[in-house]
Amino acid sequence: MKKLVFLTGAGISAESGITTFRDSGGLWEQYPVEAVASIQGYYRDPELVINFYNERRRQLSTVQPNDAHRLVATLEKFYDCCVVTQNVDNLHERAGSHRIIHLHGELTKATSTENPNDPSQVVMLAEDQDIRIGDKANDGSQLRPFIVWFGEAVPMIEPAAEAVSEADIVVVIGTSLNVYPAAGLLGYARRDAVVYLIDPSPNNVPGYLPVHIIAKKATEGMQELYEELTHKG
Ligand code: APR
Repeated sequence: MKKLVFLTGAGISAESGITTFRDSGGLWEQYPVEAVASIQGYYRDPELVINFYNERRRQLSTVQPNDAHRLVATLEKFYDCCVVTQNVDNLHERAGSHRIIHLHGELTKATSTENPNDPSQVVMLAEDQDIRIGDKANDGSQLRPFIVWFGEAVPMIEPAAEAVSEADIVVVIGTSLNVYPAAGLLGYARRDAVVYLIDPSPNNVPGYLPVHIIAKKATEGMQELYEELTHKG
């Protein structure tokens, strides 16, 4: 089976009702990213940050995967698929995708403040479960969201880069390609790989490799691409 790697961002979850970050009205217009999504912000005001992610986690039980997530999962029937996502929601999982690499963490997990990347510190959270100041991780330090904040390492970038470097087809969906190292993953694509990008307003598309741009929303673009990749069109 040919290897197909998806690189998804907030745009694939937009049609599920989850706000993106940098579109007009996006999350970073409502909250100062430095205050709620950086390691400095967490140490400055842990309760503010913990509650910001409690709010986003609670939203998970009010949204559903959309057809784009479902078509991504269905392509596992035809390709050896891997989803590399910058999203911290669980919509790819709920749509049925099996191999998912979360570059920026997951809302449904929590970890230790002292040793955030120690696997023995990572615990699952229910969608309606809040983290409170005073909740302790296994190592006794404050429990924190299992999220990669600005200023922190991105431990999953290596397996993600390896997946892209082995891909026959790479499909970018709904990311502004603004944030590194995620935005640099396309640089690992083989020169003979076929690259598609689905985004109603594509930006930062790298000029150094041929990209088939589908300037549509994720659900429409994935329907078109699904038909092309399964020759149903
Ligand atoms: N379908 C497809 N793409 C869409 C849709 C849609 N319905 N609506 C918006 N988009 C596109 C926008 O045009 C934009 O290119 O999705 C992209 C969203 O970009 P961002 O808001 O920057 O989201 P993302 O690229 O995922 O951000 C990367 O930044 O703040 C950090 O950690 C956060 O993971 C996030 C990272």
